[in-house]
Amino acid sequence: MLIETFDNEEALASALAERLIDAVTRSPRLVLGLPTGRTPIALYRELRRRTREGRIDWSDVHTFNLDEFVGLGGHDAGSYRAYMQAELFDHIGLDAAHIEMLDGRAADLALECERYERAIAGLGGIDIQVLGIGANGHIGFNEPADGLHARTHVATLLPGTRDANAALFGGDPARVPERALSMGMGTILSARHVVLVATGAEKRDAVAGMVHGLVTPTLPASFLQVHPRVTVMLDRVAAARL
Ligand code: PGA
Repeated sequence: MLIETFDNEEALASALAERLIDAVTRSPRLVLGLPTGRTPIALYRELRRRTREGRIDWSDVHTFNLDEFVGLGGHDAGSYRAYMQAELFDHIGLDAAHIEMLDGRAADLALECERYERAIAGLGGIDIQVLGIGANGHIGFNEPADGLHARTHVATLLPGTRDANAALFGGDPARVPERALSMGMGTILSARHVVLVATGAEKRDAVAGMVHGLVTPTLPASFLQVHPRVTVMLDRVAAARL
């Protein structure tokens, strides 16, 4: 793992936006894995700005998001689809046919998970997967457990994860869906390059466990230790226990 520490989240987001621009410039057909949550908001702001400045051509880029709530789709406030449209997709002119998200309203969730895996494979896999980390060490919705799913699956969210997502649902954790569709640990580990971003004090224990702890399903991000190309980008506060 390559660990990089930045003075603050703005500096981190700028650096990552520049790298993604470089990657797309070098490989216009880049396949990008994207996260939601509070952490990437600064990154998406920086990407919007650079897109307005004409610094990035998204025409041939494809994206896959990590996860989506079961029962929610594009028109539902609180869905990750709605978040992605508002934070990024509505502003950058990415071809709608190049945006892949799990459909939380699919009639057959197992089939939807299989479709997603096939779509990723059909584009030759993910080149760069950007990830956040939960305070409990989850990545995507791969929650701490005795065992982890390798592939895209239906996940049950832990209470702390529903609390962390309450802001999308008027601040009420009870309104956060109990289940989500999520890429699995193997889906994430199959990306050629993983970039994990963490900011803020609530992430410092999970970050320390991910970097220095045992590889364990009770801290899913620790599995990134076995990946050959992981970059961990932290602000000073999230790096405090390293
Ligand atoms: P956050 O979520 O960016 O909202 O802290 C990260 C995650 O749970 O993966």
